Amino acid sequence: MNVQTAIASADAGYVPGFGNHVATEAVVGALPIGRNSPQQVPFGLYAEQLSGSAFTAPRQENRRSWLYRMRPAASHDAFVPYAGAPHLRSAPFAEMPPSPNRLRWDAPAIDAGSDFVDGLTTYGGNGDVGAGAGIAIHLYAASRDMKDRAFFSADGELLIVPQQGRLEITTELGRIDLAPLQIAVIPRGVRFKVVLPDRAARGYVCENYGSPFRLPDLGPIGANGLANPRDFETPAAWFEDREAPFELIQKFQGGLWSTRLGHSPFDVVAWHGNLAPYRYDLTCFNTINTVSFDHPDPSIFTVLTSPSEIAGTANCDFVIFPPRWMVAEDTFRPPWFHRNVMSEFMGLIEGAYDAKEGGFVPGGASLHNQMNGHGPDAASYAKAVAAELKPHRIDGTVAFMFESRHVIRPTRWAMESPALQSDYDDCWADFPKATLPR
Ligand SMILES: [Fe+2]
Repeated sequence: MNVQTAIASADAGYVPGFGNHVATEAVVGALPIGRNSPQQVPFGLYAEQLSGSAFTAPRQENRRSWLYRMRPAASHDAFVPYAGAPHLRSAPFAEMPPSPNRLRWDAPAIDAGSDFVDGLTTYGGNGDVGAGAGIAIHLYAASRDMKDRAFFSADGELLIVPQQGRLEITTELGRIDLAPLQIAVIPRGVRFKVVLPDRAARGYVCENYGSPFRLPDLGPIGANGLANPRDFETPAAWFEDREAPFELIQKFQGGLWSTRLGHSPFDVVAWHGNLAPYRYDLTCFNTINTVSFDHPDPSIFTVLTSPSEIAGTANCDFVIFPPRWMVAEDTFRPPWFHRNVMSEFMGLIEGAYDAKEGGFVPGGASLHNQMNGHGPDAASYAKAVAAELKPHRIDGTVAFMFESRHVIRPTRWAMESPALQSDYDDCWADFPKATLPR
């Protein structure tokens, strides 16, 4: 294979694999060969390095890409404060005292007239955006295309989990089509815009201030399983040569700022490197579970993890509960009762979750913070202890969890929204007392 044929063309659409060093050009000959920053870049393009890690980060942690674009990204006027996205919040989360209560929300309505950025609403989060630790959890609910607006977060990478409606995401490094049951990750700082082919879209976003998401170690599972690297897809280079007024909005240390460009920011004709957006189809997840007894810990369903400085203790784990066979013998099969040092935010993409008979709806959410008792509701419990334990397939449902080592502190919106269910505790009210032998 020669160098030229190893370069992915725009026709390729996506390049398979997780964390690969990709080389891609939308115009043949645009990508410099043999060096990153030649004296003269082909076609007069500008070379720019985008660093997602410190220069000196260990090789396995090092993420950077070289972009070859029609104008430098530095070509813009000063940013000024941006007044949109009224419900977007950032760490540190101190609007409300953190509640020790179990919380659950109905699916919020999609307001007319908001695009992806202005329709971001924050449930809560943790950590400190200035310290590069923690997460924020947002809802997006949008009914308008971003058209000539672009956005980036300097505060963290964005894990986007659609629940309703497709998204066409144009990024500096290529285009991603996304639908419910797929996820996308946009690295910190990468400019993007979102178009809504179904006119309305809703879903969840984890803004990760900490270490970038990566695949979890598999330990005794072996070399294969869970989310397999080849099923991740990175877009090939794509650009537009368009002179038009563009608004560029950035999130920086929690604040929103905007500036004007006279051209499209999506003018990267070629790039190479290992810092890039990607997507993954959750139906590709190789679900592993017990074939004997007991319900394994939900970490067995981890898709991506953002490690903290404490080994095995995640800044954030992204975990899914996909369709699967339940075959455990002499076992209470739904998720068990639990109190956890980690904090758990859950959402539902479709269907019904096996630990709740009702109230947890697609587009809704729940929050079980550190050491809050949670688990199956009384109706699910009664059904599970009486069930005949023949093989049973859970189908037509995918729930997910953002699990974090830090308590997730809700925003004022989350605590005062009419979507907050006032009767959530009631689902654990009707458990009969155990009967001891006399
Ligand atoms: Fe739990």
